[in-house]
Amino acid sequence: MPTLETMKDQQNSSTGKKEKVEAMFDNIAHRYDFLNHFLSAGIDIQWRKKVRKLLAPMHPKQILDVATGTGDLAIELLNLKPESIIGIDISEGMLDIGKEKITKKKLEKIITLEVGDSENLRFKSNTFDAVTVAFGVRNFENLQAGLKEMMRVLKPGGTVAILEFSKPKKFPFKSIYQFYFKFILPGFGKLVSKDNEAYTYLPDSVQQFAEDAAFLKEMELAGFINNGQHRLTFGIATLYFGTK
Ligand SMILES: C[S@@+](CC[C@H](N)C(=O)[O-])C[C@H]1O[C@@H](n2cnc3c(N)ncnc32)[C@H](O)[C@@H]1O
Repeated sequence: MPTLETMKDQQNSSTGKKEKVEAMFDNIAHRYDFLNHFLSAGIDIQWRKKVRKLLAPMHPKQILDVATGTGDLAIELLNLKPESIIGIDISEGMLDIGKEKITKKKLEKIITLEVGDSENLRFKSNTFDAVTVAFGVRNFENLQAGLKEMMRVLKPGGTVAILEFSKPKKFPFKSIYQFYFKFILPGFGKLVSKDNEAYTYLPDSVQQFAEDAAFLKEMELAGFINNGQHRLTFGIATLYFGTK
């Protein structure tokens, strides 16, 4: 496994981040769902529901869930009654857990999970009514390349919905959050996942990631229009949206 220092170097130079991220998620895949729900006290489930509610008025029929991981957002989006949802991810370990869930729930006819890189999507331009990402963009090696690919495969008039961690700005949530993210989450994450770096990488990557206006600027650069955001749960997460 990479050390935190090498991860940081990689984030700075950007070269090789993809391989490190893939290996890290492969390594924690077996504990990912449990830790996700436990460490967020189940709030992550509510955040994914917000994505579904945002998309509901558009009635999307063809949906792409980028960085789908173990498929939780793809499964939540089933409630929109689409014709098809494709989830892509670079981590086969995460996809394997997702595929197990989908088979158990007998959802294979609508949801397909496959290996794919956000920065080089295999789909034709103008294919999807909605493209979503939950807690994925922060991990992209090249954020603009990923956003541009999502823009390319979206149909004109289609919606992009991007859920990502952000940082609370107001007292006392800011202090509580910083204490939790710095001191509680890394230790507990390490104990349960047995991965030395993943739950240190999480707060570090959130710390370094563009949010608010800076992220909206990235979306604009990639070509999305009518962009906006909803800050969720005191700003711990933000749901960004835009149109093609
Ligand atoms: C924190 S997990 C989020 C998984 C899922 N969307 C969820 O809500 O639980 C981040 C995922 O992004 C994936 N990822 C990172 N970079 C990627 C890329 N360039 N293309 C596709 N997936 C990527 C990782 O493999 C990992 O499964």
